[in-house]
Amino acid sequence: MRIEILRRKKGEKDSYLQVFEYEKTTDDETVLSVLNNLNLREELKDINGEKAEKIVFKSSCGQKKCGSCAMLINGRPGLACASRISQYSDTIRLEPLKKFPVIEDLVVDRSIMEENLKQMKVFFEDKAIISEKRNQVSYEASRCLQCGCCLEVCPNFSVDNNFTGMAGAMPMSRIINELDKKQLKEISKAYNKFVYNGCGKSLSCVDICPAKIKIEDMLVNSNAIAVWKRYLKD
Ligand code: SF4
Ligand code: SF4
Ligand code: FES
Repeated sequence: MRIEILRRKKGEKDSYLQVFEYEKTTDDETVLSVLNNLNLREELKDINGEKAEKIVFKSSCGQKKCGSCAMLINGRPGLACASRISQYSDTIRLEPLKKFPVIEDLVVDRSIMEENLKQMKVFFEDKAIISEKRNQVSYEASRCLQCGCCLEVCPNFSVDNNFTGMAGAMPMSRIINELDKKQLKEISKAYNKFVYNGCGKSLSCVDICPAKIKIEDMLVNSNAIAVWKRYLKD
């Protein structure tokens, strides 16, 4: 296989494409294992036989749980650990997510996602109000990996504006059912400002989510509580 990687050295502005030859081992091999195997070579050389630096990328769980390995795989955002190489042709092109500043090779700075959650105050200030009726919604929203794949395809998200996209909306959907009236009032304002007003409802984010969260259902629920009919909440 031909593995093309868009690389960038730390602190530099220009990227360059480096190509590696790779012989796949098994059919269920993932993009993440390809990257690991390339780095495990005694001496890493590109397709021209030139010595190459080890490839810099992020991963932690290796099983679709942490969201750290998100990158562009043949132009589509996805998780390296969840992407089997058998689904691609003989060439795989790996690039860092484009909506975020690149730190090095395939690693980007996604700290804006955390900053957005802080701005929206997505945390409990008092005891959670647990409602069995709403548990399912909270559970579904809690599956968000904070990977940022949805932001990559969202026409309205940018690190320079205050729209959080679904990476902000999901943690909000997770807790909005469980807040007391006082915090619900505050968080409803934040939801309007950071989510509802910026979302064009194009739903490009729905198909791309690697966790397959029912994003539309979450939006309907949170919009109903924060924007339309607060009485829907228990
Ligand atoms: S529905 Fe469209 S605008 Fe809203 S978060 Fe998804 S991709 Fe972005
Ligand atoms: S909503 Fe899906 S795509 Fe977006 S950050 Fe959460 S897990 Fe990733
Ligand atoms: S390494 Fe955790 S989701 Fe891929």
